[in-house]
Amino acid sequence: PRHLLSIADLAPAELTTLVRNAHRHKTAIKAATGEVPHALRGALAGKTVAMMFSKRSTRTRVSTEGAIATMGGSPMFLGKDDIQLGVNESLYDTALVLSSMTAAIVARVGPHADVADLAKHSSVPVINALSDLYHPLQTIADFLTVAETHPSTSATSLGLEGLKIAWIGDANNVLYDLAIGAMKLGVDISVATPSGYEIPKHIKTVIEHAASTSPRAGKFIETRVPEDAIKNADILVTDTWVSMGQEQETAKRLKAFEGFQITAELAKRGGAKDSWSFMHCLPRHPEEVNDDVFYGPRSVVFREAENRLWAAISAIEAFVVNKGKIQ
Ligand code: CP
Ligand code: NVA
Repeated sequence: PRHLLSIADLAPAELTTLVRNAHRHKTAIKAATGEVPHALRGALAGKTVAMMFSKRSTRTRVSTEGAIATMGGSPMFLGKDDIQLGVNESLYDTALVLSSMTAAIVARVGPHADVADLAKHSSVPVINALSDLYHPLQTIADFLTVAETHPSTSATSLGLEGLKIAWIGDANNVLYDLAIGAMKLGVDISVATPSGYEIPKHIKTVIEHAASTSPRAGKFIETRVPEDAIKNADILVTDTWVSMGQEQETAKRLKAFEGFQITAELAKRGGAKDSWSFMHCLPRHPEEVNDDVFYGPRSVVFREAENRLWAAISAIEAFVVNKGKIQ
């Protein structure tokens, strides 16, 4: 089966289609009649999707379970204390057993190798619900949010070419798939991280490869100076400075990231476009963005969170219902 482990798994046109389908389903389901489109109705009736989560989740769990329910399927949540995995049973055995009884596996793991291994041995599609390297469902929702914030009339693309994202903060899983997606969609991304917290080399190779295979690649720039990244940016983005599993490093990280908090003053100093907007995958902590920006009129974070549902519907339709055919 075809799996969704990273945005790197998608051709540029496929990413565009997933974002467009998310938008189409959102529009249809939120219309006055609120009806589930014909193609989705009962598409997973009588089927179970295993939701194997080794870490906490609000958005990813609710959006994927909601998407499966929208298509008539039954999500089965398997938290780390519910199943034998890791205590009495190997990942290999778990992959064989889960995939023998379900239509798909949605998995949130620590090391990316875990979700890659699961996919290798699973006989049904595996969707990465966050690993330490990638968060593809977040990226689909994020580009839907960018497209809604910067609407275009293009019939073939999302019309995002030439926009500039500034990522200010930690180099992490959410950034990596966002940067890969940006390359594929012709969006420029400049990344400001403190010294010692840069994007690792093997991920840069993946980002550069994404650029080299895109018909109109975005530009990718790295700096240690937030203001430099912000210059002419349309969208300012950040995420937590302390990802799940890094809690013991909290004090060290808060110190290293001083000066990286997104504020209106920083945006002004850096010379963001007048129309700049703010995005964050959530959950948010006040150190990476102050309340004025986070709750202010430029922030699209709650639209972005809702878009997780529409992105999940689009991805599950493509990978589970249509078996990896993205159309
Ligand atoms: N953005 C995101 O993935 O949130 P959760 O951890 O709540 O799923
Ligand atoms: N970078 C964060 C994202 C959470 C959705 C983490 O990995 O904890």
